[in-house]
Amino acid sequence: MVDEITLTIDGVEIKTTPGTNVLQAAMDAGVYVPYLCYYPGMKAFGACRMCVVEIEGGPPGSQASCTVPAADGMVITTKTEQINDLRKGVMDLLLSEHPHGCLTCHRIDLCGPTDICLRHVSVNDRCVTCPKNERCELKDTVRYLEMDMDSPLTYNNRSIPLKVSDPMWDMDLNLCIVCGRCVRVCDEVRGDNALTFTDRSGRSLIGTSHGTSLLESGCEFCGACIDICPTGALVERKYKWDKADKTVKTICPHCPVGCEMNLEIDKKNRLIRAIPDRKANANKGQGCFKGKFGLDFVNSPKRITKAYIRDEEELAESTILKAIDFTSGKLSQYSGTEFALIASPRGTNEDNYIAQKFSRVAMKSNNVNSSSNIKTDLITPLQKMLGFHAATNPIWDLESSKCFVIISSNLTEEQNVVGVPIKKALKNGASLVVIDQRETEMTRFADIWIKPVPGSESMLIGGIIKVIIEESLDDHDFLLGRCDNLKAFKDSLWAFDLVKVSTLTSVPAEDIRQAARMIASKGPASFLYALETLEPEYREYCTKAIINLALVTGNVGKPSCGIYPLLPGGNEQGSMDVGCVFDRLPGFDPVSDDNARGRLEDILGVQMPIEPGVSLSELTTAIEGGIVKALVIIGDNASFRNGDLGDFISCLSKLDFLVVMSTFQNEITDMADVVLPSATFAQKDGTHTNLERRVQLLRPALKETGDEQSDWRTLDQLATRMGAQGFGYVDSAEIFDEITSVVNFYGGLSYKRLDIDGLQWPCLADDMSDTERLYSDSRPKMEEMESIEVPIYKDKEFPYLLATGRILHDSERSTGIEYRNGRAMLERDEIIEFHGDDANTMNLIEGEKVEVISGRGAIKGSVRLTGSLKGIISTTGLFGDLAYEFDRSKSDDPVLAVEGLPLLPVHVKKIGSVQDV
Ligand code: FES
Repeated sequence: MVDEITLTIDGVEIKTTPGTNVLQAAMDAGVYVPYLCYYPGMKAFGACRMCVVEIEGGPPGSQASCTVPAADGMVITTKTEQINDLRKGVMDLLLSEHPHGCLTCHRIDLCGPTDICLRHVSVNDRCVTCPKNERCELKDTVRYLEMDMDSPLTYNNRSIPLKVSDPMWDMDLNLCIVCGRCVRVCDEVRGDNALTFTDRSGRSLIGTSHGTSLLESGCEFCGACIDICPTGALVERKYKWDKADKTVKTICPHCPVGCEMNLEIDKKNRLIRAIPDRKANANKGQGCFKGKFGLDFVNSPKRITKAYIRDEEELAESTILKAIDFTSGKLSQYSGTEFALIASPRGTNEDNYIAQKFSRVAMKSNNVNSSSNIKTDLITPLQKMLGFHAATNPIWDLESSKCFVIISSNLTEEQNVVGVPIKKALKNGASLVVIDQRETEMTRFADIWIKPVPGSESMLIGGIIKVIIEESLDDHDFLLGRCDNLKAFKDSLWAFDLVKVSTLTSVPAEDIRQAARMIASKGPASFLYALETLEPEYREYCTKAIINLALVTGNVGKPSCGIYPLLPGGNEQGSMDVGCVFDRLPGFDPVSDDNARGRLEDILGVQMPIEPGVSLSELTTAIEGGIVKALVIIGDNASFRNGDLGDFISCLSKLDFLVVMSTFQNEITDMADVVLPSATFAQKDGTHTNLERRVQLLRPALKETGDEQSDWRTLDQLATRMGAQGFGYVDSAEIFDEITSVVNFYGGLSYKRLDIDGLQWPCLADDMSDTERLYSDSRPKMEEMESIEVPIYKDKEFPYLLATGRILHDSERSTGIEYRNGRAMLERDEIIEFHGDDANTMNLIEGEKVEVISGRGAIKGSVRLTGSLKGIISTTGLFGDLAYEFDRSKSDDPVLAVEGLPLLPVHVKKIGSVQDV
């Protein structure tokens, strides 16, 4: 098949690839053809007819160019009088039902946002009353067509009331041109079907299938429909009327997908909209509720913009210089194990590199961690067995995977955009095995959903591998030709007798066989794991088992397959790459590796401490025990409060000296001796590294409003003041250059190269090209499978574990809506599932009302005896509840307040009989 074809558009020869439609080919070549219903990346719809062209020698008349595949030698004309008349005729029809004072006003190019017409013209359809004023594709198209319209034109006003009760967005169907982009993006790209075409009294519009709220329809509030709407029909509610003064492309800090976002900034230095970048390699124009609606914290007037020093009991405002002086003086009194630093996963690579350098060089301590890296066990086995501590393949390889294994991951909430290509592949027939005790969005698509005893996941995967080997379903060539330590690995499988595995995991042997056959036969397969429901001590076993399974089935080193550890922090991959790990140097080499440490010391001309520091999970104990006396915390993180670090907040009172670099005041800054103001991601330059190893540039969009600054600068000032060697950086580019000289696999990267688009490390080939997929010709090392003691959960006060799930839509149960202050919220009785044996023990019967109480709160609901796992109580909520809470949140930074779904120890209280329910 030819790779490239040539066609002529308006006399200009252009090249494109076979399969591309004529409209897209023209767009790619920079030739403008008007269009309204088409959108790049989606299938053609052919509804608006605005893209009509003439094809020489083709069918008579005009063709909708979005529906015509480009062919070699085609000759196209996009502009003739006839074509223009046709387009104008269609536009006339559209405008017969669309307010269009905005198109005809004589001041169209002169008017300010609230000028003339609001004051002098008694109409409600002028441009300034449309939230998409100057961003409207319909208006742009009318202008392009140079339509000769006299004002006032009449139009049929639909007079449909605005819909403003759903969270975060408004819908004005009077402005809808029924192009269907929103409906199609929701179905075709997001796989959600929350929106559909509606037919009411002979009029086609868009809405939800039963006229329900979006909370009930399965909306994930990703904002894709808003981003794609050509008119003002769908808009973000907040800053709806505000106009951008500039647009800056940068990286969302909320999760490790690292979505490239175009931030629209107004004249008042406010972020008014965030729109995912359509051309970004990481997210291809997609985002999620966190990135779309969760970046407003950067505008908060409550941000800390001054330094504070504790004076007796109170924190008193100070200047940055005084605070740096004071802090450096105090920190000079501590050294080595007495000091620890917690960096932020929202920090740039430059912030985090300087954070670890400050800790290691200025404070001589390896006690440095990022506040989200409580799960290094998810990546250290990758380095040991495969070579690098990161995902093997790009995110969008998932689109062409034929099988997925998702282990303990609520990825549609935690790493949302990763779910987009997966759902698309599933729609195209791919298979899915989910291993999770919770019902999540992905379990709804699963061919096989396995709920093992928590902690037994590695045994379960061992059982799956054993079946694959026994039934000779493994990839013989890959195993024999590429993998080391094969014999020892195979010998270790003796311990994974299927009957034993089935008993230990509580998973029927037949389910294990089915999963094994599916994974081995339906590839190429991808393996994604967050291990959210596993206790820390079981994560490494599980990670090794997953890697072994991927190797056994030959799913490493080629396209459309691979291994994806799903870390929680935005720039957690980058923070580990540059050394924010207690036992790892920049480059992820062990601190104990003399050669690696020596190399680093030679390059930097400084001494590095030899003994590994304390891990994040050990830090609370080290502070309580008086070993760590001085602590620097950068940013805020859920791990400070969710129990991952034990009773972390309380332990801070034991410190001699606490420095907090923060954007908001909170209970941790309240305990600090010094508070230093941190700039937000939207004020910074620097780099982030996403979960597919893509290093991407942040660009400053907002100006500073006080003394806040990048954390690297604050730490650099502290280190310089303390007389530490190797500091005094001019800018973040200088730091990045140092990172590229220190971290081998960042070699070949530079700000200049990254400015075009992100690059996936390593870039060590002769031509310095980046590496989409790792291990095309390496030799992976199989690890022996370890038979582990499966934990038996026992606790007197909280004798059961609650597995809370969350899904978008539950068609089997009716859900009511209640209105509170004009906003819709979901109202339904929760179902709480119990295993029959547990129900007997508690003397519960079907339908009885109970309250399930954990250390974090309580949930009420009706008993259902459908639980499949003894000791586990389960319940599944709706995402609509989370969306409501998120929208109404009073938190300074609502994304930090979104709770994950860990297994929670609980006890159960009866609160009513069946009759009361
Ligand atoms: Fe081609 Fe609408 S863009 S028909």
